[in-house]
Formats: sequence, structure tokens, C-alpha cells
Amino acid sequence: MAPLLELAGVETHVGRYHILHGVDLVVPEGKVSVLLGRNGAGKTTTLRTIMGLWRASRGAIRFAGREIAALATADIARLGIAYVPENMGVFTALSVGENFRLADWRSDPAPARLEAAMAAFPVLARKWGDRAGTLSGGQKQMLAIGRAIASDHRLLIIDEPSKGLAPVMVTQLTDALARLKEARTTILLVEQNFAMARRLGDHAAVMEDGRIVHVGGMAALAEDVSLQTKLLGLSLASHQ
Ligand SMILES: Nc1ncnc2c1ncn2[C@@H]1O[C@H](COP(=O)(O)OP(=O)(O)OP(=O)(O)O)[C@@H](O)[C@H]1O
Ligand SMILES: [Mg+2]
Repeated sequence: MAPLLELAGVETHVGRYHILHGVDLVVPEGKVSVLLGRNGAGKTTTLRTIMGLWRASRGAIRFAGREIAALATADIARLGIAYVPENMGVFTALSVGENFRLADWRSDPAPARLEAAMAAFPVLARKWGDRAGTLSGGQKQMLAIGRAIASDHRLLIIDEPSKGLAPVMVTQLTDALARLKEARTTILLVEQNFAMARRLGDHAAVMEDGRIVHVGGMAALAEDVSLQTKLLGLSLASHQ
């Protein structure tokens, strides 16, 4: 079966800097793929290039059988890629409910999608009328991911959702994402929190200096401390 998303030889320049040097990445449908790598390896740049927020100067990006590298970001999103960036991007002046109304590019989110988002993060239903600016950091992250869940998507791309969250929030978020995984949502996840990456990941790809230097099963990587040290500089367990 063809993967849902595939990058082949993707190169990206940001201004005068050559950041991605030929990224090959495959995201199979119905699985969680985790993208790992040291700070500055090019993980966020890869996600932004998929979304058309940076332009690939070479290479191919195929989603659901279509070449998307030349499409506008809004058109890429409309094809069914929901992206939660590192800094979340919730509208703090709007209520939680109003943020959800902006989740879909075409119309209000379908009731079943909204229900799935509320089931993932029940706190959002309780705070429906509250201004998003009054939410905690963890709740804002839940709103950003909940909004992506509520949109009409085939692929969820999430950049470091655990960043800056208290351990109890990370656990809640991991539980919610684990339920999405059980429902066979296709997810491309950048995550440095090892407990989260290990629990959620089916596949792992490791980046270094703008290239993918390892692909394999997440479980195999989780068990191989010397491989982790070689690829990531530290054993993953030390990130916990
Ligand atoms: N707007 C920019 N202008 C110039 N260089 C940039 C820009 N954004 C990223 N870079 C550079 O590109 C490289 C990859 O950055 P990127 O943000 O993709 O890394 P990352 O793997 O997501 O790192 P982190 O784990 O710290 O989030 C880094 O060397 C970074 O300094
Ligand atoms: Mg990043």
C-alpha cells in the first residue's frame, strides 16, 4: 500500500541557509510515525515544508497520491492535513468554542468530529465559553490539538506537544493521543519526551543535519540504548 505521505529528496532553503539536504520520509496510514533528532536537526523545518510554509527547492512531497510541494498552504490543509505548530497558535482573544468554529476550512466542524475532540479533552467542553487566553499552557495545547482533531483531516502533524508542560499534563496529553492512535488516526509526531514517543510511536525516523539518518520501529529504537546514544547523543531514557 502506498504511504499516506511521502517525502523524497526534499531540500529546503530558509533565506540564504540550506537547511534540509534531501529528506526521505514515509508516513504510513493508520500509524503513528515519530520524528526524532537533536535540537536544530531540521524537524520543524520538515513539518513547515510539508505544509508549504517553507518551499522545497528540490524533491517531491506526495500526499494521498498527489504532488503537493507546489500547493498553497491553505490548499494543503484542505486536502486533509491538520498541523499543530510548536507554539500552538490558539486565538487567545476568542472563546474555546469560537476557536473550534475556526477549526475547519469549509464550515463548522462536523458534530462527530467535535465529539471526538471533546472525548479526547473533556476539559474543553467545560471551558467552552471561556476566553482561550485564560487557559493554562496545557489546556491551550489541548485546544490546539482538539481543534486539529475537529477539522476534516486524514493526517495529524503535531510538533513537540509536550514542550513546556507539567508532567501531569504530559500524561493526560499522551493518554488522549493514545486514544487517537487506537482509533487508527494517522499521526506524524515530533516529540523529545521519551515516555510519550515510546508509548505512541509505531515507527521512528531520526534526523541529523537536515537528513534522515535512521528509520525503523519505535520499539526497536527504544530497546537499543547504544543506537540511541549514537543517533541522539543521549539515551532516550535520560530525557524522561
Ligand atoms: N527562520 C529561520 N532562519 C534561519 N535559520 C533557521 C530558521 N528556522 C530554522 N533555522 C535553522 O534551521 C535548522 C533546523 O531548525 P529546526 O527548527 O527545523 O530544528 P528542530 O529539529 O525543529 O529543532 P528543535 O528540536 O530545537 O525544535 C537550525 O539550524 C535552525 O537554526
Ligand atoms: Mg523544532
